[in-house]
Amino acid sequence: MAVLAFETSCDESSVAVIRRGRVLSNVVSSQIKLHAEYGGVVPELAAREHLRNLVPVARSALREAGAAPGEIEAVAATRGPGLPGALLVGLKSAQAVAYSLRKPFLGIHHHEAHLYSPWIQGRPPEAHFDEFRPNVSLIVSGGHTLLVHVVSELKHRVLGSTLDDAAGECFDKVGKLLGLPYPAGPEIDRLAREGNPHAFDFPRPMLTDSSDDFSFSGLKTSVRYFLRDHPQLAEDPQARRDLCASVQAAIVDVLVGKTIRAARRLGVDCVTASGGVTCNSCLRRRLEDSCAKDGLKLLLAAPSFCTDNAGMIGILAERRLDRGQFSELDAEFDADILPGWKLEGG
Ligand code: KG4
Ligand code: ZN
Repeated sequence: MAVLAFETSCDESSVAVIRRGRVLSNVVSSQIKLHAEYGGVVPELAAREHLRNLVPVARSALREAGAAPGEIEAVAATRGPGLPGALLVGLKSAQAVAYSLRKPFLGIHHHEAHLYSPWIQGRPPEAHFDEFRPNVSLIVSGGHTLLVHVVSELKHRVLGSTLDDAAGECFDKVGKLLGLPYPAGPEIDRLAREGNPHAFDFPRPMLTDSSDDFSFSGLKTSVRYFLRDHPQLAEDPQARRDLCASVQAAIVDVLVGKTIRAARRLGVDCVTASGGVTCNSCLRRRLEDSCAKDGLKLLLAAPSFCTDNAGMIGILAERRLDRGQFSELDAEFDADILPGWKLEGG
């Protein structure tokens, strides 16, 4: 018996098959190339591309998992938050499959799924919930920056979020100022490896603020003014690398500083991180160093589970099924998308 999961909240069309905590397949078709031309995700194009991709992606996921449709015991999809048109494609497709198989449908909160993706480790990937412990979880992507206290399995409390730009958005906007292609995060990461993080001093917004919230738009603006005042630096290859390293250090200082502080304050002994920005090599290294220093266990989502994927949606759906945490199944067949769904207590 298996769970078939769909994820289409932004620009990745993904379908996964999960069985007893194991990710049997997790097929992702990225639209990055399509949107790069426009310097960001174009919602209408994303929805149309999901429509084109979803059936072949679902076929590949079933084939890779060696699962027949008759083995599917439940179907899950991201219900929100995300781009409305994109969400609609995945949610309605999943509901149609569930209805035709006469199996339950589960609408999953995208960020709640991110919270548990760091527990998916190994080859083949498997959710190690037997090792679960209360934690502080950092979700950092192009659209969101969230700090969450995961009190127990399937129970959480949001501590803080970004007041303006997300961390990934800051990477992408700074990259745009430097003329880097979208999404710029991976390229800044690469250039920063040969740069000096102390070369330029950029602000660390809200690092010492008493709240667990974040703000990155001021940092992006200070880079814009800096480049306006020193236009020659943007042309110099080493200065560009130093600039990337310095901006990255400012973002990472804030993310790591606030995450560790929250963990200490709440008395948890475990920190987790997920979302596209968690692919950043500096963030991974700094979280490793800081957690080791503070005696905290650290779980970083594997890169393929950092970025958006249906594997994490299916893992959470199966956990809910196991715990009997779903109800009014018939109502869920016509459940609508929730593009602005806030992550509330689990
Ligand atoms: O989670 P994700 O794939 O999509 C959503 O935004 O939901 O995250 C994409 C974001 C982009 O902003 C991208 O620039 C950033 O993650 N990103 C990185 C790296 N890889 C991806 N940022 C910094 N360093 C990276 N290595
Ligand atoms: Zn995401």
